Amino acid sequence: MPSPIQYDPSAALHCLKKRYLREIEKDLEEARQETLDDVPLLTSGKKIPKSKRPLDSGFIELPRNLLDEAATHGGDSLLGRIRTAAETIRGEVDRFVVLGIGGSYMGARALFEALCHPRHNELSRSERYHVPRIYFEGNNLDNDTLAGLLELLQNHCRDKSDVNQRWGLTVISKSGGTIETAVAFRLFREALEGYYGTDSDESRRFIIPVTGEIGKLRDLSNLAGYHHVFPVPDGVGGRYSIFTAVGLLPAAVMGLNLELLLQGAADMTERFRTAPIGENPVLDYVGLGHVFEEEYGLNIRLFSTWGARLEAVGLWYDQLLSESLGKDEQGATPITVVNTRDLHSRGQQHQEGRRDKLITNVIVQQPSWPPLRVPHTATERDRDQLNQYSSKTIPELLTAAIAGTNQAYADVRRPTADLLIPKLDEYALGQLLQMLMLATVVEGRLIGINPYGQPGVEAYKKNMVQILTAGEG
Ligand code: PA5
Repeated sequence: MPSPIQYDPSAALHCLKKRYLREIEKDLEEARQETLDDVPLLTSGKKIPKSKRPLDSGFIELPRNLLDEAATHGGDSLLGRIRTAAETIRGEVDRFVVLGIGGSYMGARALFEALCHPRHNELSRSERYHVPRIYFEGNNLDNDTLAGLLELLQNHCRDKSDVNQRWGLTVISKSGGTIETAVAFRLFREALEGYYGTDSDESRRFIIPVTGEIGKLRDLSNLAGYHHVFPVPDGVGGRYSIFTAVGLLPAAVMGLNLELLLQGAADMTERFRTAPIGENPVLDYVGLGHVFEEEYGLNIRLFSTWGARLEAVGLWYDQLLSESLGKDEQGATPITVVNTRDLHSRGQQHQEGRRDKLITNVIVQQPSWPPLRVPHTATERDRDQLNQYSSKTIPELLTAAIAGTNQAYADVRRPTADLLIPKLDEYALGQLLQMLMLATVVEGRLIGINPYGQPGVEAYKKNMVQILTAGEG
């Protein structure tokens, strides 16, 4: 059985008065109940006040429901259909473009960086086990990255009868109207249809939209007759949609184990539902962050990853926390840190700067590759004086860096907590992502903020449309 991730706040407990944690236990219990009662599938009978809608809490039970559906309906279930579409892509194309922004992009990227080979796109097709090269676009208005990818596809895809020279795409947008993604889709769709032919079978099979039940992209997809179109269900908000087709389709194309991913998430929901405070990673994580913010003014949360493969998970979390709780002039500011890299850029500030930060170390306990050892060299070549460490492995050096850094923070009463991940695999990622989504909703309940919706993002869009259409008509 794969291992659970653990949350260990013990180092931070030396930096606060314990009674503060005891004092919020009742509020935490209530927030847990309110979060779970939100689940549309549970019939508690409780009415949710208007101020707390929309209730996009469908993500909470989704992993369990999808697993159950797959067990009952097999190939006809959503998982079965996603797998079939992904098999077509893996078998027939060698490059796959994922178009989407915000919640329709960051989760897939997090899975790709955490779970695929760190040099995935540079491997040969057989070294990649036929998983296509993966590219992310449609998440910006950057002329050069768009043009660069289109150019690469054009230069490397000249003979469409050769699988190594074929490419496909997914366009992911719940609303179906987000301009960055829509414009990118038009560009890439034209390129793809130009290559295979507008009415070709390939153009209908190698474009896979993921979108809500209504909207421009849904209309367009119906008209185009794409073989596969996957839904983003109502009741699951954009940044909470990693366990819908939004995250699962790209994950399946990447060859990831969807069952393990969903099982990790379902198990985390169960722990959240049943474990008492003190053994509940969601409630303990929220409680600590809340107390440090309310009682000590620490309103910056450092998601301090030890190792580069979790950086995109951190960026996914930055978005989740910012868009969910950054409302009514409230909400902590999340910052992703990658150590040891950032010890050489941000470390100074964390050690001696403003006392406004709570640090959560995200530590992977076992590397995916066998540990590398610092090589031993002949004495006359030991000018870098590394022979003194030559019995050590890279993970041992990292462990020393983590311990040394935490000690340095503890010495000056800077609070740190540890999130311990046994190993980077689908089960761990499922747990971690679900834990952070649940924690965000619980914290919203605690501070009286509706964690769903992002009304503040509309302001820029409205202005942009006005500017673009000014003078027309
Ligand atoms: O969390 C959210 O809802 C947002 O970040 C959306 O995911 C993002 O704006 C993209 O929206 P859409 O999927 O409708 O294109």
